[in-house]
Amino acid sequence: MFRRTGRAGGSGPAGHGGEALRLVKVSKTYGAGEGAENAVTALDDVTLSLRSGTFTAVMGPSGSGKSTLLQCAAGLDRPDSGIVMVDGEEMSGGTEAALTKFRRRRIGFVFQQYNLLPTLTVAQNTTLPLRLAGRRVNRARAQEILTQVGLGDRLGHRPEQLSGGQRQRVAIARALVTEPSVIFADEPTGALDTRSARDVLRLLQEAVRLHGRTVVMVTHDPVAASYADSVLFLADGRLTGEMTAPTADAVAERLAHLGDTTPAGV
Ligand SMILES: Nc1ncnc2c1ncn2[C@@H]1O[C@H](COP(=O)(O)OP(=O)(O)O)[C@@H](O)[C@H]1O
Ligand SMILES: [Mg+2]
Repeated sequence: MFRRTGRAGGSGPAGHGGEALRLVKVSKTYGAGEGAENAVTALDDVTLSLRSGTFTAVMGPSGSGKSTLLQCAAGLDRPDSGIVMVDGEEMSGGTEAALTKFRRRRIGFVFQQYNLLPTLTVAQNTTLPLRLAGRRVNRARAQEILTQVGLGDRLGHRPEQLSGGQRQRVAIARALVTEPSVIFADEPTGALDTRSARDVLRLLQEAVRLHGRTVVMVTHDPVAASYADSVLFLADGRLTGEMTAPTADAVAERLAHLGDTTPAGV
């Protein structure tokens, strides 16, 4: 199997077959315990494996468990059962502190609503993950990564001085700055106009193609999904199918069969 090497490759240890992410029988139920008649099984026995250096879209109807899948895979939430492995290392299990440390080293996350800190500059927002991980914060690094996302001249700006698309590009720079193995993005283009969305999708694609990252992106939009190498379809907390080399038309067609007839972003 093709394996990327050097700086551009995943930062993980050798010997796991180029696999960046593995979920084994991951389940998550909300509202179990007392009043269990209200329990919702958000993830039901999900098993998947993603190779390093791939771009995967996750699609499915509202409430099908997409966000829960990302949160569990990213170590932002814990599954009730099952295993999550990043770079061949088990992430689930261990203490909260160990999980946080692992996540800061291996995982990047991009949210629909950017989640930038309003009091920090663009450069400070970008390098925050380095600071949190106790790593060297180097202004040249901020300059380099912000230039990559087209914001090399905005280092001293505050988030409120930027457009939505620019804010999301800062969020992508922040997700890239630690050179994580896997970047998760939950509806990263959901709040953006078509053109800004395209910029964001191209950056995610570049992170994969040029820098060897692994990207997993939830989206409602067949056009956004067509930027990925493959699409995983989720329904009722279960994986129901996969499409490789997706086109927007083929994805839209498949979604119709999943029963998702709501417009993008709803
Ligand atoms: N914190 C929570 N508490 C209770 N139920 C939740 C919580 N988060 C999600 N759910 C439920 O779990 C299911 C999956 O939600 P989610 O993962 O957000 O789906 P999606 O992102 O596909 O819309 C839904 O039925 C949702 O209502
Ligand atoms: Mg969601």
